[in-house]
Amino acid sequence: MHHKNPAWRVFSFGLPLAFSLCSQSVEAQLIVAHRGASHDAPENTLAAFQLAWAQDADGIEGDFYLTRDGHVVCIHDEDTERTAGVKLEVSNSTLAELKKLDVGSWKDKQFAGERIPTLQEVIATVPNGKRIIIELKIGPEIVAPMQRILKASKLKPEQILVISFNEQTIAESKRLLPQIKAHWLTGYESETDLGPWTPTASSVVQSVSRTNADGLGSEGKRGVFDEKFIRSLTEAGIKEFHVWTIDDGADARYYQALGAYGITTNRPAFIRRELNKQSK
Ligand code: G3P
Ligand code: CA
Repeated sequence: MHHKNPAWRVFSFGLPLAFSLCSQSVEAQLIVAHRGASHDAPENTLAAFQLAWAQDADGIEGDFYLTRDGHVVCIHDEDTERTAGVKLEVSNSTLAELKKLDVGSWKDKQFAGERIPTLQEVIATVPNGKRIIIELKIGPEIVAPMQRILKASKLKPEQILVISFNEQTIAESKRLLPQIKAHWLTGYESETDLGPWTPTASSVVQSVSRTNADGLGSEGKRGVFDEKFIRSLTEAGIKEFHVWTIDDGADARYYQALGAYGITTNRPAFIRRELNKQSK
């Protein structure tokens, strides 16, 4: 099965998109659990990551910050209010302070006692051959601490993808860890539902090039990030893209047909079933 493939898939972006649509479309998307299996378990907790593996995800995605005492911890927001009910700024708190918080109960009482995990603890859940997508939520100062943790781990370079909205962070990751893939992230904004949308495809190409990223991680907004947009990337030599956050089967099939490298979803088991429907 495609998701057992040990290597990240390399897409034929140099070929016409029509080729992509007819010949390679249905076989190989990585299904990545967004903040873990976060539809069913509290985001960015070990419970969510373990559930992602139980749901046969190919990879997990998590969000990372630096604590005051230099630990790399997994949480989406810059403070703990939404998931712990108590407001601590991550950058102003020690790991010990953050570890006292319960970040599971907000989702369901069955998850009471879940703690904010460190990057090391998240990595320890990753089975052989599976992937971790590390989203760095802050500036380039987090890259060297991450590098030390990755070096001490058993992960192979091909199991890791670094992502960030921050151009400097991606550039630093490619500088310090050139052998590890990195994708620059972007969403899209408009003053009206009909656009114009920013950033434009040409601006995205410039950002990806500036950072030396291996590809783009794009918001899966079909009205903007469509075949034409993807062709602009291809023509500029950007060979990979992944999309987030895709919880709808039709959207997953749309981006699969356009050759997505990965589909990040809160519902990995559901999206796997949806994509298998088409493959049969
Ligand atoms: O995978 C990228 C995606 O996670 C970015 O958005 O806000 O969920 O971290 P966010
Ligand atoms: Ca994220």
